Amino acid sequence: MSEKTFAIHGDIVWSRDRANLQWAKDGYLVVVGGVSKGVFQELPAEYEGIEVIDHAGKLVIPGMTDIHVHAPQYGFRGLGMDLELLEWLNTHTFPEESKYANLEYADKAYGIFAGDLLHSPTTRAVVFGTMHVEPTELLMDKLESTGLKTYVGKVNMDRNSPDYLCEKDAATSLADTVRWLDDVEAKGYGNTRPILTPRFTPTCSDELMGGLGKLKQERGLPLQSHLSENLSEIDWVHGLCPWSSCYGQTYEHFGEMDGEGKVVMAHCNYSTDEEVAILKRHNVFVATCPQSNMQLSSGIAPIRRYLVEGVHVGLGTDVAGGATLSMFRAVADLVGCSKLRWRLVDQNLKPLSTAEALYIATVGGGSFFGKVGSFERGFEVDALVLDDSGIRTPLDCDPAERVERYMYLAEEGGRIVEKYVAGVRVL
Ligand code: GUN
Ligand code: FE
Repeated sequence: MSEKTFAIHGDIVWSRDRANLQWAKDGYLVVVGGVSKGVFQELPAEYEGIEVIDHAGKLVIPGMTDIHVHAPQYGFRGLGMDLELLEWLNTHTFPEESKYANLEYADKAYGIFAGDLLHSPTTRAVVFGTMHVEPTELLMDKLESTGLKTYVGKVNMDRNSPDYLCEKDAATSLADTVRWLDDVEAKGYGNTRPILTPRFTPTCSDELMGGLGKLKQERGLPLQSHLSENLSEIDWVHGLCPWSSCYGQTYEHFGEMDGEGKVVMAHCNYSTDEEVAILKRHNVFVATCPQSNMQLSSGIAPIRRYLVEGVHVGLGTDVAGGATLSMFRAVADLVGCSKLRWRLVDQNLKPLSTAEALYIATVGGGSFFGKVGSFERGFEVDALVLDDSGIRTPLDCDPAERVERYMYLAEEGGRIVEKYVAGVRVL
């Protein structure tokens, strides 16, 4: 982390709380040692003479956390969006992921992914690799050098997967995971951390699940997986684990939600009351991925319910279930999906506002990394400087309104001018 003291000057907008944006036109965001000292309308006397990076007229907003994205699926984004989850995995995803056994292919493909992620709105990400150890380390090397902060997982999958993409057995999968964790520790990354990654219950044997639960607790590691994404998937889990009363229990039972490390479960579109109680009991983060849920016809997550009940929620792109790395687009999709759910499924749950979706994209997912996602005093400063002058309008919008329309219109002439992660400029 940088020890530098500086201020960014511009039209600064951030989440004051879950439902409201706060802004300071021509304000100063003061950064000391990577951490916010607050946003001020005038630079306080004690900071007189510090370096001021002048972005007058530009928007300055918190960086976004993509809390669920598959790096090896980036290559086929935008393709094969006519199938549902289980067929999509077999037809498109598994064949593509198997190519990463080849380090030359992984080098090329992960170079493209890391480069594009750096230029995206994302400052932090929680990332799936593949089951392969060395290629996953290569992905971590590339992400490390971007300056973005990430958790990256070597995937575990030892059953119900094609021969060309299946670990031999639980013992092999666990041994490879330990070898990977030891390698990563020896590398001493500053930005990149490992996260245990059982792909999902259908592709992980009981022995593997139990071994990962034990490893999680012994090493205090975080863990990511998928939960209650698609109806056929949920039926399959009930068949595979007839002893379980809900899908979430198949992770909880094996200790995968215990220990110090945080847990993130992607989707939770169909979580029952019992499953929601499990999420709450273990402080699980729900990674909601609205575009993926549309493209794979998976369903619509009850995000308002999770907010009301105090479940942690972050926003993910789930590339390549979602086609784009743009978290701006994900914010707009999250709002749109919540409206469809309200109209078509449950009139008791109000749709989300853009301010609420922005909160989920910043503070919501950022909390997986600590005090991240806001400019309130004490937060690590992840920031995007945005030029919205190309998104023309005759209206005289305030900074919060400009941010709101940026989420919907970024591709119409918006530009990320600079990007900071924990106070360090990375773009
Ligand atoms: N469930 C298991 N694997 C995957 C995956 O790669 N993508 C999505 N969206 N769901 C999954
Ligand atoms: Fe996923």
